[in-house]
Amino acid sequence: MNNSKKILSVLLIAVMAMGMLAGCGSKKAADDSAKDAKDTLVMATNATFPPYEYVEGDDFKGIDVEIAGEIAKKLGMKLDIQDVEFDSIIAGVQSGKYDMGMAGMTVTDERKQSVDFTDSYATGIQVIIVKKGSDIKSVDDLSEDTKIGVQQGTTGHIYASDDYGEDAVTPFNKGADAVQALLSGKIDCVIIDNEPAKAYIESNDELEIIDTEYVKEDYAICVSKDNSDLRDKINTALQELKDDGTIDKIVSKYIPAE
Ligand code: ARG
Repeated sequence: MNNSKKILSVLLIAVMAMGMLAGCGSKKAADDSAKDAKDTLVMATNATFPPYEYVEGDDFKGIDVEIAGEIAKKLGMKLDIQDVEFDSIIAGVQSGKYDMGMAGMTVTDERKQSVDFTDSYATGIQVIIVKKGSDIKSVDDLSEDTKIGVQQGTTGHIYASDDYGEDAVTPFNKGADAVQALLSGKIDCVIIDNEPAKAYIESNDELEIIDTEYVKEDYAICVSKDNSDLRDKINTALQELKDDGTIDKIVSKYIPAE
């Protein structure tokens, strides 16, 4: 090889090497941003709410957990479940800390001012749990003098405070704690969603759910108002899961038909 040819081939190799390096660099950058641009769907919940979400051993279980898993699958994403206080879910979704809140969460006009809701995937009913033999036989027996237990920040909390005043209401971190307080006579009743109510009293002969319903409501998933793209994708996934019977199947696994 003469000198000029040598120089040329060295240059060529250098150019190729640079090209490869540049190629690698940009591939890596693309992968990283794809990761940021979400291969994980972060769901905030409060896993004290059977049969919608609860902890069993090391696992999250429940209707919401399974529906969320199906939604993530449809979106081609991994599901990451964060178990947090119920009344911190909306703020966390608003700030972008979580992509969505799914926690048997009722759609309300007030919450709609902070977050967007997807289409509803289930309905709930606020019911009243009492000790058997209680003087409280229907909603009409509740008054400002009733000691009402609720889970902090839930619709049960909001409605009971509106109807009977803050002083009548004792908020607890978990619904199950309210039920314990009822058992030990610290409060007269608990207002909470019907399915968790059934789950809480299941192993308790002393308790019953009174016949009259307090409020009926729709459950939906909340997302940030800045993320209508995610909301639309979840709605599409939900519709498919409704149409092909997946949601019914999940619900009936946890709530056997009566
Ligand atoms: N449906 C009620 C609400 O939205 C109670 C939900 C509580 N959920 C929970 N995972 N603890 O306020």
